[in-house]
Amino acid sequence: AVLAPPGAFHGKVVPPGDKSLSHRALIFSAMATGTSTITNLGPGEDVAATAAALGALGVKTEGNQIDSPGIDAWTPPKIAIDCGNSGTTLRVLAGPLASRPFSTTLTGDTSLQSRPMERLVDPLTALGGSVLLSDKGTAPITLGPAQLLFAADSNISVPSAQVRTAFELCALQANGVSTISSPPGYRDHSERWLESFGLGERVSPEVFRIFPGSIPPATYAVPGDPSSAAALWTAAAIRLGSAVRTENVSLNPGRLGFLQILESMGAAVTAEVTGSIHGDPVGDVTVRGCALSSTVIAGSLTAAAIDELPLVAILGSFAEGITRVTGAGELRTKETDRISGTCTMVNSLGGNAKERSDGFDILGVGWLESGEVSSQGDHRMAIAAAVAATGSTGPITIQGAEAVAVSWPLFFDDLEGLWSSR
Ligand code: S3P
Repeated sequence: AVLAPPGAFHGKVVPPGDKSLSHRALIFSAMATGTSTITNLGPGEDVAATAAALGALGVKTEGNQIDSPGIDAWTPPKIAIDCGNSGTTLRVLAGPLASRPFSTTLTGDTSLQSRPMERLVDPLTALGGSVLLSDKGTAPITLGPAQLLFAADSNISVPSAQVRTAFELCALQANGVSTISSPPGYRDHSERWLESFGLGERVSPEVFRIFPGSIPPATYAVPGDPSSAAALWTAAAIRLGSAVRTENVSLNPGRLGFLQILESMGAAVTAEVTGSIHGDPVGDVTVRGCALSSTVIAGSLTAAAIDELPLVAILGSFAEGITRVTGAGELRTKETDRISGTCTMVNSLGGNAKERSDGFDILGVGWLESGEVSSQGDHRMAIAAAVAATGSTGPITIQGAEAVAVSWPLFFDDLEGLWSSR
């Protein structure tokens, strides 16, 4: 059970290394020939799944160093690669693997095996890649063998950074210049890195052009994860007079949606860019709790806050008015159905949430109460429930709290550290 802090708190949070950037740093390093260095790699199980998958292809990870023979010398894995709970491992790795002259099968846990993978088929087969799904359009998914890869222009209907990245990493092996296009709001980490390596260029917010070529070995200083920090920003936002500061987090525009939402609901937010990692901005954020009012979230703002929407339901419960999230149908295909999971959580804590097909309405009641919540094995749901507990009128018990290890193994220690070190 998580207990509420004793009063207003001022704290600093060092969130784990960014999950999205950690996956990419590992995969980019593995595609390069030679030794790359990654610091502050995310400590969660998802990132470990990517490192293990690359190990099965002949890439060595030792401490901060990644030693790779290069994508052209990847070795066929002997058995199917288990990506665990990690959609990013499976979807992003599908790209380079679809271009290989051997076949690889990727699979995962029950949750991952129920998530939609059809979205990979058109983009990767347009390049001449080979993709085979289960009858249900899910994992296990078999990539390759492929022969020559052809340049292609692909248009996807969801703003999925995972699918865009898969296409881009496959298109590096094509015989000409390719383009990928999707609605905006996606995190463009991969595009920024490819551009910094001279392997691509932005045509518009939707369209990116990929030049065939090899990713060079590089050094990646992974910043903190704003999707993790968002949990503790929420804890400050719902407790008047509290403040949380986080230094050196990713400030990629596709990750800023939650800060914009916090601000539009009345929290005091400062975000300052202090540097960048291969063209991708990083910086410091402070969030202060103020009286909160409701907001409406739609369009590219929804996409740019997609992993933080369960936290928006907590904010909405403590705000005045009805907070509405729309255009978030993708939430139903995450580690769990996060629309139904979020509404169940809020309602079982004395709040008032109503499901919509593509989002939810939260009627602000000004508080949440004690109760019992199940994470359903979903790290973001476990973390959201713990954040609710920091502002609730009584303790909250979380079944399956250990799911936090997927992205933030030390979450509960770091959460308590926030107010016990005052
Ligand atoms: C991610 C992209 C998003 C996000 C996921 C991580 C990434 O998924 O929800 O947690 O690292 O590319 P989609 O690509 O499905 O939008």
